[in-house]
Amino acid sequence: MKAIRMMEEIKLIGPFKQLLTMEVLPLKGPLTDSQLLIIDDAGILVSNGKVMATGNYATLKKEHPSAECHELKGDHVCLPGFVDAHTHICFGGSRANDYALRNSGKTYLEIAKSGGGIWDTVTQTRKANIEELTKSTSKLANRHLKTGVTTLEVKSGYGLSIKEEVKMLVAIQEANKVIPSDIIATCLAAHMFPKDFKGSKKDYLEELSTTLLPKLKESNLTHRVDAFIEESAFSPTEIAPYFETAKSMGFDITVHADQFTPGGSQVAVDFGAISADHLEASTDTEIQLLAQSDTIATALPGASLGLGCNFTPARRLLDAGATVAIASDHNPGSAPMGDLLTQAAILGAFEKLSNAEVLAGITVRAAAALGLQDRGKLTKGLLADFSLFHTDNYQEILYNQGNLKPCMVWKEGNLVYNKHKA
Ligand code: NIG
Ligand code: FE
Repeated sequence: MKAIRMMEEIKLIGPFKQLLTMEVLPLKGPLTDSQLLIIDDAGILVSNGKVMATGNYATLKKEHPSAECHELKGDHVCLPGFVDAHTHICFGGSRANDYALRNSGKTYLEIAKSGGGIWDTVTQTRKANIEELTKSTSKLANRHLKTGVTTLEVKSGYGLSIKEEVKMLVAIQEANKVIPSDIIATCLAAHMFPKDFKGSKKDYLEELSTTLLPKLKESNLTHRVDAFIEESAFSPTEIAPYFETAKSMGFDITVHADQFTPGGSQVAVDFGAISADHLEASTDTEIQLLAQSDTIATALPGASLGLGCNFTPARRLLDAGATVAIASDHNPGSAPMGDLLTQAAILGAFEKLSNAEVLAGITVRAAAALGLQDRGKLTKGLLADFSLFHTDNYQEILYNQGNLKPCMVWKEGNLVYNKHKA
């Protein structure tokens, strides 16, 4: 439960064998591990949920003798809390059968065409009430928290009517109130054309523009709008008027782009989207386009692992100069695993990414993909969100490919997960 913060004592947490602040890294392009700012024998000083200072533990202790000390035994590496910038963890039902069908040879799009896929989850999600969805979303968010995720984005998109999309966004908002981590909500009412809508795709998108978006604006349920650009969902031409309205109303745009065929990233760049996500089918043209824009390229290795297909060309995107964030895409269909650290480590091994590129992709660059300036690195004045790993060398974290989980997670200066007490 998010507590109301009273005037608080200064806390000193440490010592950590290594603390990676993720500061002073460029937002765009390749990174080498030598660019990582690593403080040895470090401590972190926290006041009112924010970082007051980072530095040598003994020095901080001497300078702040009245600080309440949380002195740790053994070796720990401290990283900023992870930011999972793309998930769909608000849903009803399961798609284990889709997974089995795919592994028997059917494709994601074939399953969708024969009535399974996203529509199956829509049917299950519509059957669930707000309380049920709040509970299941909170449960999954708390699972992410144990893997170090202190901020996560959650999309609607399994309601696909005004009423059902609002229901999902209310459940997401309610979940945010009862969990320690922060949820950033996104409206994905343009996830696919609802089979039961009386009218054309154009009519559906017009209804979203004229009825749903004003409702969302008024109720403050989200400031972000997403759409799936794909043959099975919406074409660039179909989506354009919807994005125009959303943009003119002040919504941030994000796009499910180039998952199976290229096209979506062009839309993302044209509309100044904050991020273009997926990009498994991006070619050199889209890579250059994204690299020359401010749109962040978000790789979703969980979808590649769930569908058994190629990864987002993260190496080529970085080398071209793009900003690459990495997110789990956790959803019941294409990405059921939902373990960001594991997936980011695996993407790193396949795409030949440095530790710095992978870690920036799930911290500071992921925060940028959500437009969040107050987190993603451990800098004075930013949120004191961080995780501790039982090791003396930060390289061990990705080397263990997700199997080395955090032993403690702190959110805004409070210990919200302790493996030894779980
Ligand atoms: O990001 N590609 C579209 N949407 C989701 C999958 C949703 C689902 O299959 O339920 C994705 O992969
Ligand atoms: Fe997605």
